[in-house]
Amino acid sequence: MLQDAPFRALLAAPKELKIASPTMLPELLRVEGVTVRFGGITALDGVSFSVKAGHIVGLIGPNGAGKTTLFNCLSRLYAFNEGSILFEGAPVVDTRPHGIASLGIGRTFQNLALFRTMTVRQNILLGGHSRTHTGFFENALRLPRVRREELALEAHADQLVELLGLGPVADTRVMDLPFGTQKRVELARALASQPKLLLLDEPAGGLNHEEVGALMELLREVRARLKLTMLLVEHHMNMVMRVSDRVVALDFGRVIADGTPAEVQTNAEVIRAYLGTAD
Ligand SMILES: Nc1ncnc2c1ncn2[C@@H]1O[C@H](COP(=O)(O)OP(=O)(O)OP(=O)(O)O)[C@@H](O)[C@H]1O
Ligand SMILES: [Mg+2]
Repeated sequence: MLQDAPFRALLAAPKELKIASPTMLPELLRVEGVTVRFGGITALDGVSFSVKAGHIVGLIGPNGAGKTTLFNCLSRLYAFNEGSILFEGAPVVDTRPHGIASLGIGRTFQNLALFRTMTVRQNILLGGHSRTHTGFFENALRLPRVRREELALEAHADQLVELLGLGPVADTRVMDLPFGTQKRVELARALASQPKLLLLDEPAGGLNHEEVGALMELLREVRARLKLTMLLVEHHMNMVMRVSDRVVALDFGRVIADGTPAEVQTNAEVIRAYLGTAD
């Protein structure tokens, strides 16, 4: 498919690098030879790359390249046929699918996944519950430890409301908010689980030009304040190239480029993938 607009943005994107010391950081995530097949379709075909702690890594590629499938493997929604995914050196398959948040991996979804009739604050509080440690009986008996955990969750939700500028709408139902604000609520919900690695699937999708600029600033601030690592799927080339420390490009389920934004945006295979031409 011809994707002319992202291609032009790719070439026009600024070439300077944002974050230094690329070799000094420990590795947080390693994806090795991951292959996913759906019937006759090979959605991921031996994908390998790694993410260093503290980095923002952009994951780009044309529609159907396998970006969301990779996120679904990382968050244990999909099983992969071959390969391994190591988070802090341990295989993610050792963790139960619903335990992935307590491991320290959080995500947002390409299509918003919020409770629309609940308020902003309630959604954020729910996002934090995957981190609580008290069990069923403690909760039923309302022991002091439960109350302490609730207070901590509430305090953390308050911090996220402030960080993401959601104060004025904290008690508004999500369904009554503009789309751009809902996207920020989804980001806050994902952050509530206090992830070490945050997976963002097209956070700028559907946002207008100004909102994209604001989101970019916000992601930088979130990374600086919360000291986390991000893997960012995005079609907005300008944004990916500005905000990412490294960029991985996928096409037809394969890694076709992996490097600095400057390297990837001038990579011949990447340009070819975005032009949609066969060689
Ligand atoms: N659950 C599924 N069952 C069957 N095929 C699937 C499934 N999920 C993804 N695919 C296929 O795998 C391939 C990769 O899809 P994926 O959604 O990962 O692409 P993407 O890079 O996220 O694309 P986009 O930019 O459009 O979101 C596509 O051919 C898609 O049709
Ligand atoms: Mg996708």
